[in-house]
Amino acid sequence: MSRIAYVNGRYIRLAEARVSVDDRAFTFGDGVYEVCEISGGRLIEEERHLARLSRSLAAVRLAQPIGKAALRLVIREIVRLNRVRDGLVYLQVSRGAAQRDHGFPAADVKPGLVIVARSLDPAALAAKAAAGIAVITLPDNRWGRPDIKTLQLLPNVLAKQAAREKGAFEAWFVDAAGFVTEGASTNAWIVTSEGALVTRQADETILHGVTRAALIDIAEELGLRLEERPFTPQEAQGAREAFVSSATTIALPVVSIDAMPVAGGRPGPLVAMLRRAFREQAPRS
Ligand code: PDD
Repeated sequence: MSRIAYVNGRYIRLAEARVSVDDRAFTFGDGVYEVCEISGGRLIEEERHLARLSRSLAAVRLAQPIGKAALRLVIREIVRLNRVRDGLVYLQVSRGAAQRDHGFPAADVKPGLVIVARSLDPAALAAKAAAGIAVITLPDNRWGRPDIKTLQLLPNVLAKQAAREKGAFEAWFVDAAGFVTEGASTNAWIVTSEGALVTRQADETILHGVTRAALIDIAEELGLRLEERPFTPQEAQGAREAFVSSATTIALPVVSIDAMPVAGGRPGPLVAMLRRAFREQAPRS
């Protein structure tokens, strides 16, 4: 089956889908994106993802490309056309196509919208959850607003590649004060020896992960102790558990940091429990 993409108002076979070389996503990385999980053919945490998209658009002064109701319909159509049961849907909004000039284009230039969906193998993710993942740490060299989900991901790309080259799944960025901010494409968590869940506060230094917010809701419902504060790689190496969260991983146990084993090098029980609870409770639509 050939895959179908939505590109600026049209459903097109992926192999034939094109955007202009003048598209500002291409020339400047001038745009924002969203990634939403699909499980059992349904969107997971759709409201939070669309709310964050609106926030990202407003933060970079981009107009909503199409109305919200239309957007929901197009997302569903792309999921349906690609027959995705378990996977993800990716939305990208650019400031449109116009002759290269740093300032905003003329008001009649419309934002560009691309939506694609693809299947992921749930068994591959389950295997990662069972085995745990390795992370490395790197200095956080991103711009000052990682809370906006922009297309400008070069530091994240380089960090992820550095992790892969060291046999790790994720790279954790560390700020100038020595604290972990987040991963290249995930939020970072630890469980202290007292059993408290710790994740960095959602300020301008991290992406406000939808999965992070959902896991916080679950932790509160379960009456777990939660501390939204920074932690260092050293604290994480000595933690009872460590894990990462994102729409594409849900929650994956971290079993080593910079080649030092965490929690005896084995996935812990709390992250497994949070994973299960997320599967059962996260809103699906
Ligand atoms: N990444 N931090 C960063 C830098 C991210 O890119 C992501 C998501 C997260 C987790 O956010 P959420 O729980 O809303 O997925 C944290 C997506 C999956 C990506 O870029 O592919």
